[in-house]
Amino acid sequence: MSTAPPVLRTRALHKSYGERLAVENLDLEVDRAELFGFLGPNGAGKTTTIRMALGLIAPSSGSVEILGREVRAHRAEVLPRVGALVESPALYGYLSGRDNLRAVGDLLGGVAPRRIDEVLEIVSLKGRERDRVRTYSMGMKQRLGLAIALLNDPDLLILDEPANGLDPAGIVEMRDLLRQLAAAGKTVFISSHVLSEVQQICTRVAIINHGRLVRVAKVADLVQAPGEYEVKVDSPLDLLQALRAQSWAAGARAEDGLVVTPAPDGRGRELIKFLVENGHQPDFVSPREHDLEEVFLSLTEEKAN
Ligand SMILES: Nc1ncnc2c1ncn2[C@@H]1O[C@H](COP(=O)(O)OP(=O)(O)OP(=O)(O)O)[C@@H](O)[C@H]1O
Ligand SMILES: [Mg+2]
Repeated sequence: MSTAPPVLRTRALHKSYGERLAVENLDLEVDRAELFGFLGPNGAGKTTTIRMALGLIAPSSGSVEILGREVRAHRAEVLPRVGALVESPALYGYLSGRDNLRAVGDLLGGVAPRRIDEVLEIVSLKGRERDRVRTYSMGMKQRLGLAIALLNDPDLLILDEPANGLDPAGIVEMRDLLRQLAAAGKTVFISSHVLSEVQQICTRVAIINHGRLVRVAKVADLVQAPGEYEVKVDSPLDLLQALRAQSWAAGARAEDGLVVTPAPDGRGRELIKFLVENGHQPDFVSPREHDLEEVFLSLTEEKAN
Protein backbone atom coordinates (compact mmCIF):
# COMPACT_ATOMS: atom_id res chain seq x y z
CA MET A 1 0.00 0.00 0.00
CA SER A 2 1.31 3.41 -0.86
CA THR A 3 -1.35 5.44 0.90
CA ALA A 4 0.92 6.36 3.80
CA PRO A 5 1.84 10.04 3.71
CA PRO A 6 5.48 10.95 3.09
CA VAL A 7 7.55 10.95 6.26
CA LEU A 8 8.64 14.49 5.55
CA ARG A 9 6.95 16.91 3.19
CA THR A 10 7.38 20.61 2.64
CA ARG A 11 4.81 22.56 0.69
CA ALA A 12 5.63 25.88 -0.91
CA LEU A 13 7.88 26.55 2.04
CA HIS A 14 9.17 30.12 2.34
CA LYS A 15 11.33 31.86 4.86
CA SER A 16 12.58 35.39 4.63
CA TYR A 17 14.67 37.39 7.03
CA GLY A 18 13.73 40.96 6.21
CA GLU A 19 14.62 41.43 2.57
CA ARG A 20 16.60 38.22 2.37
CA LEU A 21 14.85 35.12 1.12
CA ALA A 22 16.50 32.18 2.85
CA VAL A 23 14.10 29.53 1.51
CA GLU A 24 11.83 30.02 -1.45
CA ASN A 25 8.88 27.94 -2.58
CA LEU A 26 10.40 24.64 -1.51
CA ASP A 27 8.49 21.43 -2.24
CA LEU A 28 10.07 18.22 -0.98
CA GLU A 29 8.83 14.73 -0.28
CA VAL A 30 10.81 12.12 1.59
CA ASP A 31 9.49 8.59 1.94
CA ARG A 32 9.86 5.99 4.63
CA ALA A 33 13.26 4.30 4.93
CA GLU A 34 14.88 6.70 2.50
CA LEU A 35 18.38 7.99 3.03
CA PHE A 36 17.77 11.42 1.62
CA GLY A 37 20.52 13.96 1.04
CA PHE A 38 19.86 17.68 1.24
CA LEU A 39 22.67 19.40 -0.55
CA GLY A 40 23.69 22.95 -1.15
CA PRO A 41 26.58 25.35 -0.76
CA ASN A 42 27.01 27.54 2.32
CA GLY A 43 24.05 29.82 2.83
CA ALA A 44 21.77 27.82 0.51
CA GLY A 45 19.05 27.48 3.14
CA LYS A 46 19.61 23.96 4.50
CA THR A 47 19.70 24.77 8.18
CA THR A 48 16.81 27.20 7.81
CA THR A 49 14.72 24.45 6.20
CA ILE A 50 15.68 21.99 8.92
CA ARG A 51 14.82 24.48 11.66
CA MET A 52 11.39 24.90 10.10
CA ALA A 53 10.98 21.13 9.83
CA LEU A 54 11.67 20.82 13.54
CA GLY A 55 9.27 23.61 14.44
CA LEU A 56 12.14 25.70 15.84
CA ILE A 57 11.33 28.67 13.61
CA ALA A 58 8.11 29.56 11.82
CA PRO A 59 7.89 29.58 8.04
CA SER A 60 7.04 32.92 6.45
CA SER A 61 4.54 30.90 4.43
CA GLY A 62 3.96 27.33 3.35
CA SER A 63 4.20 24.35 5.64
CA VAL A 64 6.13 21.31 6.77
CA GLU A 65 4.44 18.01 7.50
CA ILE A 66 6.00 15.09 9.28
CA LEU A 67 4.18 11.76 9.02
CA GLY A 68 1.23 13.62 7.57
CA ARG A 69 0.91 16.21 10.35
CA GLU A 70 1.71 19.87 10.11
CA VAL A 71 4.62 20.29 12.48
CA ARG A 72 3.79 23.49 14.29
CA ALA A 73 0.15 22.59 14.79
CA HIS A 74 0.94 19.08 16.04
CA ARG A 75 4.25 19.57 17.76
CA ALA A 76 3.54 17.35 20.78
CA GLU A 77 2.50 14.48 18.58
CA VAL A 78 5.13 14.82 15.87
CA LEU A 79 8.35 15.76 17.63
CA PRO A 80 8.67 12.63 19.81
CA ARG A 81 8.97 10.67 16.56
CA VAL A 82 11.84 12.79 15.29
CA GLY A 83 15.49 12.79 16.29
CA ALA A 84 17.65 15.70 15.26
CA LEU A 85 21.18 16.94 15.24
CA VAL A 86 21.35 20.55 14.07
CA GLU A 87 24.75 22.17 13.65
CA SER A 88 26.67 21.80 16.92
CA PRO A 89 24.58 20.00 19.50
CA ALA A 90 23.70 21.91 22.67
CA LEU A 91 25.46 20.01 25.44
CA TYR A 92 26.17 20.61 29.11
CA GLY A 93 29.95 20.77 29.32
CA TYR A 94 30.11 20.23 33.09
CA LEU A 95 28.08 17.00 32.87
CA SER A 96 29.32 13.63 31.67
CA GLY A 97 28.17 12.19 28.37
CA ARG A 98 25.92 9.79 30.20
CA ASP A 99 24.41 12.55 32.33
CA ASN A 100 23.76 14.62 29.22
CA LEU A 101 21.80 11.70 27.82
CA ARG A 102 19.98 11.28 31.10
CA ALA A 103 19.08 14.99 31.15
CA VAL A 104 17.64 14.80 27.65
CA GLY A 105 15.89 11.56 28.57
CA ASP A 106 14.21 13.33 31.48
CA LEU A 107 12.98 16.03 29.11
CA LEU A 108 11.55 13.32 26.88
CA GLY A 109 9.66 11.95 29.87
CA GLY A 110 12.14 9.32 30.98
CA VAL A 111 14.35 6.91 29.08
CA ALA A 112 15.45 3.50 30.36
CA PRO A 113 19.11 3.27 31.46
CA ARG A 114 19.43 0.37 29.06
CA ARG A 115 18.54 2.63 26.13
CA ILE A 116 21.25 5.04 27.26
CA ASP A 117 23.75 2.16 27.18
CA GLU A 118 22.50 1.19 23.74
CA VAL A 119 22.97 4.60 22.18
CA LEU A 120 26.38 5.03 23.82
CA GLU A 121 27.32 1.74 22.26
CA ILE A 122 25.91 2.73 18.86
CA VAL A 123 28.00 5.91 18.68
CA SER A 124 31.11 4.27 20.18
CA LEU A 125 31.33 6.44 23.28
CA LYS A 126 31.47 3.58 25.74
CA GLY A 127 34.51 4.08 27.94
CA ARG A 128 34.28 7.88 27.86
CA GLU A 129 30.70 8.15 29.03
CA ARG A 130 31.65 9.24 32.56
CA ASP A 131 34.00 12.01 31.47
CA ARG A 132 32.80 15.58 31.43
CA VAL A 133 31.69 16.66 28.00
CA ARG A 134 33.94 19.71 28.01
CA THR A 135 36.88 17.29 27.85
CA TYR A 136 35.48 15.67 24.68
CA SER A 137 36.93 16.25 21.25
CA MET A 138 34.75 17.85 18.60
CA GLY A 139 34.03 14.48 16.99
CA MET A 140 33.07 13.00 20.36
CA LYS A 141 30.64 15.85 20.94
CA GLN A 142 29.18 15.20 17.51
CA ARG A 143 28.75 11.52 18.39
CA LEU A 144 27.06 12.44 21.64
CA GLY A 145 24.74 14.70 19.66
CA LEU A 146 23.89 11.76 17.46
CA ALA A 147 23.29 9.59 20.54
CA ILE A 148 20.85 12.22 21.79
CA ALA A 149 19.07 12.21 18.43
CA LEU A 150 18.71 8.43 18.64
CA LEU A 151 17.58 8.33 22.25
CA ASN A 152 13.85 8.14 21.58
CA ASP A 153 14.27 5.62 18.74
CA PRO A 154 12.82 8.07 16.20
CA ASP A 155 11.11 7.24 12.91
CA LEU A 156 12.73 10.22 11.27
CA LEU A 157 16.28 11.33 11.85
CA ILE A 158 17.19 14.84 10.69
CA LEU A 159 20.92 15.49 10.67
CA ASP A 160 22.39 18.84 9.74
CA GLU A 161 25.99 18.37 8.58
CA PRO A 162 26.49 15.29 10.76
CA ALA A 163 30.04 14.62 9.60
CA ASN A 164 31.27 17.91 11.11
CA GLY A 165 34.31 17.20 13.20
CA LEU A 166 34.37 13.47 12.55
CA ASP A 167 37.60 11.82 11.50
CA PRO A 168 37.59 9.46 8.49
CA ALA A 169 36.95 6.41 10.67
CA GLY A 170 34.10 8.27 12.37
CA ILE A 171 32.59 9.15 9.00
CA VAL A 172 32.68 5.51 7.93
CA GLU A 173 31.05 4.46 11.21
CA MET A 174 28.39 7.11 10.80
CA ARG A 175 27.65 5.92 7.27
CA ASP A 176 27.29 2.32 8.40
CA LEU A 177 25.04 3.37 11.23
CA LEU A 178 22.77 5.42 8.97
CA ARG A 179 22.52 2.56 6.51
CA GLN A 180 21.51 0.19 9.31
CA LEU A 181 18.89 2.63 10.51
CA ALA A 182 17.40 2.95 7.02
CA ALA A 183 17.45 -0.83 6.62
CA ALA A 184 15.44 -1.00 9.85
CA GLY A 185 12.80 1.27 8.31
CA LYS A 186 13.94 4.61 9.70
CA THR A 187 14.01 7.64 7.47
CA VAL A 188 17.19 9.68 7.42
CA PHE A 189 17.34 13.24 6.14
CA ILE A 190 20.89 14.50 6.04
CA SER A 191 22.18 17.88 4.95
CA SER A 192 25.63 18.57 3.69
CA HIS A 193 27.60 20.96 1.56
CA VAL A 194 30.08 18.18 0.81
CA LEU A 195 28.71 16.18 -2.04
CA SER A 196 31.02 13.20 -1.75
CA GLU A 197 29.81 12.63 1.79
CA VAL A 198 26.19 12.35 0.80
CA GLN A 199 26.86 10.57 -2.48
CA GLN A 200 28.09 7.45 -0.76
CA ILE A 201 25.08 6.82 1.42
CA CYS A 202 22.08 8.61 0.00
CA THR A 203 19.74 7.12 -2.52
CA ARG A 204 18.15 10.43 -3.43
CA VAL A 205 19.30 13.98 -3.15
CA ALA A 206 17.74 17.39 -3.36
CA ILE A 207 20.08 20.16 -4.36
CA ILE A 208 19.26 23.69 -3.27
CA ASN A 209 20.93 26.97 -3.95
CA HIS A 210 19.90 30.47 -2.87
CA GLY A 211 16.93 28.92 -1.10
CA ARG A 212 15.56 27.37 -4.27
CA LEU A 213 15.33 23.77 -5.31
CA VAL A 214 17.64 23.14 -8.24
CA ARG A 215 17.17 19.42 -8.70
CA VAL A 216 15.82 16.30 -7.01
CA ALA A 217 17.31 13.11 -8.36
CA LYS A 218 18.53 9.65 -7.60
CA VAL A 219 22.26 9.73 -7.04
CA ALA A 220 22.65 7.05 -9.70
CA ASP A 221 20.92 9.30 -12.26
CA LEU A 222 23.09 12.26 -11.38
CA VAL A 223 26.33 10.39 -11.92
CA GLN A 224 25.30 8.58 -15.06
CA ALA A 225 26.26 10.37 -18.25
CA PRO A 226 23.77 8.80 -20.64
CA GLY A 227 25.00 7.12 -23.73
CA GLU A 228 28.76 7.39 -23.39
CA TYR A 229 31.20 4.60 -22.72
CA GLU A 230 34.85 4.44 -21.79
CA VAL A 231 36.87 1.93 -23.75
CA LYS A 232 40.38 0.73 -23.05
CA VAL A 233 42.19 -0.69 -26.03
CA ASP A 234 45.85 -1.10 -27.00
CA SER A 235 45.71 1.47 -29.79
CA PRO A 236 43.20 4.18 -29.02
CA LEU A 237 44.14 6.31 -32.01
CA ASP A 238 43.37 3.51 -34.47
CA LEU A 239 40.06 2.94 -32.76
CA LEU A 240 39.22 6.65 -32.88
CA GLN A 241 39.81 6.64 -36.59
CA ALA A 242 37.47 3.68 -37.03
CA LEU A 243 34.84 5.32 -34.83
CA ARG A 244 34.92 8.59 -36.74
CA ALA A 245 33.61 6.83 -39.82
CA GLN A 246 30.49 5.72 -37.87
CA SER A 247 27.38 7.88 -37.82
CA TRP A 248 26.56 6.87 -34.23
CA ALA A 249 29.98 7.80 -32.86
CA ALA A 250 29.74 11.59 -33.05
CA GLY A 251 31.83 13.15 -30.32
CA ALA A 252 34.13 10.14 -29.88
CA ARG A 253 37.40 11.31 -28.36
CA ALA A 254 40.45 10.24 -26.41
CA GLU A 255 40.67 11.15 -22.71
CA ASP A 256 43.43 10.03 -20.37
CA GLY A 257 44.38 7.16 -22.63
CA LEU A 258 40.79 5.93 -22.91
CA VAL A 259 38.43 6.28 -25.82
CA VAL A 260 35.15 7.92 -24.88
CA THR A 261 32.35 7.23 -27.31
CA PRO A 262 28.61 6.82 -27.76
CA ALA A 263 27.41 3.30 -28.68
CA PRO A 264 25.25 2.11 -31.57
CA ASP A 265 21.62 2.46 -30.41
CA GLY A 266 23.07 3.58 -27.10
CA ARG A 267 23.77 -0.05 -26.18
CA GLY A 268 27.00 -1.22 -24.62
CA ARG A 269 26.71 -4.69 -26.13
CA GLU A 270 26.47 -3.23 -29.64
CA LEU A 271 29.61 -1.23 -28.98
CA ILE A 272 31.45 -4.33 -27.79
CA LYS A 273 30.30 -6.18 -30.91
CA PHE A 274 31.57 -3.35 -33.12
CA LEU A 275 34.94 -3.34 -31.35
CA VAL A 276 35.45 -7.06 -31.62
CA GLU A 277 34.29 -7.24 -35.23
CA ASN A 278 36.76 -4.51 -36.12
CA GLY A 279 39.69 -6.13 -34.37
CA HIS A 280 39.86 -3.84 -31.29
CA GLN A 281 39.78 -6.30 -28.41
CA PRO A 282 38.82 -4.13 -25.41
CA ASP A 283 40.35 -4.55 -21.97
CA PHE A 284 37.15 -2.99 -20.67
CA VAL A 285 34.08 -1.07 -21.75
CA SER A 286 32.22 0.78 -19.03
CA PRO A 287 29.45 3.36 -18.87
CA ARG A 288 30.90 6.77 -18.30
CA GLU A 289 30.06 8.49 -15.04
CA HIS A 290 30.12 12.17 -14.30
CA ASP A 291 32.24 13.45 -11.54
CA LEU A 292 29.45 14.26 -9.11
CA GLU A 293 31.35 17.15 -7.62
CA GLU A 294 31.35 18.76 -11.08
CA VAL A 295 27.64 18.09 -11.54
CA PHE A 296 26.98 19.72 -8.23
CA LEU A 297 29.08 22.76 -9.03
CA SER A 298 27.56 23.18 -12.46
CA LEU A 299 24.03 22.87 -11.08
CA THR A 300 24.64 25.36 -8.32
CA GLU A 301 26.53 27.81 -10.52
CA GLU A 302 24.14 27.65 -13.45
CA LYS A 303 21.13 28.55 -11.35
CA ALA A 304 22.82 31.25 -9.34
CA ASN A 305 20.75 34.46 -9.33
N1 LIG B 1 18.57 34.27 11.94
C1 LIG B 1 18.88 34.74 10.73
N2 LIG B 1 18.76 36.06 10.45
C2 LIG B 1 19.05 36.55 9.23
N3 LIG B 1 19.45 35.80 8.19
C3 LIG B 1 19.58 34.49 8.39
C4 LIG B 1 19.31 33.88 9.66
N4 LIG B 1 19.53 32.55 9.56
C5 LIG B 1 19.93 32.34 8.29
N5 LIG B 1 19.95 33.49 7.59
C6 LIG B 1 20.31 33.63 6.17
O1 LIG B 1 19.58 32.68 5.42
C7 LIG B 1 20.37 32.11 4.39
C8 LIG B 1 20.40 30.61 4.53
O2 LIG B 1 21.11 30.26 5.69
P1 LIG B 1 21.24 28.75 6.21
O3 LIG B 1 21.88 28.79 7.53
O4 LIG B 1 19.92 28.10 6.11
O5 LIG B 1 22.20 28.13 5.11
P2 LIG B 1 22.88 26.68 5.05
O6 LIG B 1 22.48 26.08 3.76
O7 LIG B 1 22.56 25.93 6.29
O8 LIG B 1 24.42 27.04 4.98
P3 LIG B 1 25.73 26.31 5.63
O9 LIG B 1 26.19 25.27 4.65
O10 LIG B 1 26.72 27.43 5.72
O11 LIG B 1 25.34 25.75 6.96
C9 LIG B 1 21.73 32.79 4.50
O12 LIG B 1 21.77 33.83 3.58
C10 LIG B 1 21.76 33.30 5.91
O13 LIG B 1 22.57 34.43 6.01
MG1 LIG C 1 23.75 25.12 7.79
